[in-house]
Amino acid sequence: MKKSAIEILNSQCVRSLRGRTRDGLMAETYACDISWEDGEQSRAFLKCFPSSRSLGVVNELTGYLIAKGCGLPVPQRAGIVQLNQSLVDSMDIKNCPDGVYRYAFVVSEAPGRSPNSIYSDLSENLAVIATREILKGWRGLSPLMAFDEWAANQDRNLGNFLIDEKGEIFIIDHSNIPVDICWTSESLVSEGNFRNILIDIMTWGGQVPIEEGFVVRAAERHPEVYQSVKEELKTWWQAFLGNDPSRRVAIDSFFQNRAENGSDRLSQKLSTMPV
Ligand SMILES: Nc1ncnc2c1ncn2[C@@H]1O[C@H](COP(=O)(O)OP(=O)(O)O)[C@@H](O)[C@H]1O
Ligand SMILES: [Mg+2]
Repeated sequence: MKKSAIEILNSQCVRSLRGRTRDGLMAETYACDISWEDGEQSRAFLKCFPSSRSLGVVNELTGYLIAKGCGLPVPQRAGIVQLNQSLVDSMDIKNCPDGVYRYAFVVSEAPGRSPNSIYSDLSENLAVIATREILKGWRGLSPLMAFDEWAANQDRNLGNFLIDEKGEIFIIDHSNIPVDICWTSESLVSEGNFRNILIDIMTWGGQVPIEEGFVVRAAERHPEVYQSVKEELKTWWQAFLGNDPSRRVAIDSFFQNRAENGSDRLSQKLSTMPV
């Protein structure tokens, strides 16, 4: 395999923990500094999962690699950090009776702020309307809708993308793909119809400014994207799910099947939307 886009780091690479973010629900996320494999340092976010949600790490790296393969704006760097006890002790993690999973996911800081933070003074309805105005003019909207549909990402909420001053958008947080954080082989139903929050945002209140043709065309590229990242994904799935063959087989066929059927599924979903 060529070198993976996901770096393998140890606890010494975590140079300073600056504090826990308030937004996170699925994991304990810490702002920190990271020294990456090539020695470059940057600000980053370290996501630590409870052992009962260890799949969060596989989900994050899967989402990162597939989104990057689709040309979507993910943070520049990502890695897996093997946590040692002294780093875990320094985190003062609460509400984690089953212990902290020994691998954490780390991504470099992306510019911008989430709509949740930009519009924290607005009601949720107004925040959705304001966000929709920005999303409308963003060229990545159709490919991102198509990606969230492919990955059955039901969690593209107003905390899971960032908007910078120029209106550029960066996507974060793939802990809940595919389907949800603690997926099983039974829950990965390839033909399933899952919630797509971006479609909900754009159609909220009856408006449908979705360019259906662009979304379907973005989905038509998915089989080729999957082909290009499959080898890398399979190596990681073997590493993290090697002792869980039913999940390892299920995640591969889920992404494969949904890539192949995505454009038909989306065109049906969008054409039956209430206007
Ligand atoms: N790469 C990043 N760049 C900037 N901010 C980030 C990044 N990753 C996480 N954050 C911040 O940390 C918060 C929690 O991270 P997130 O991945 O959404 O965790 P959770 O799964 O717990 O929601 C985000 O809402 C955002 O404010
Ligand atoms: Mg989040």
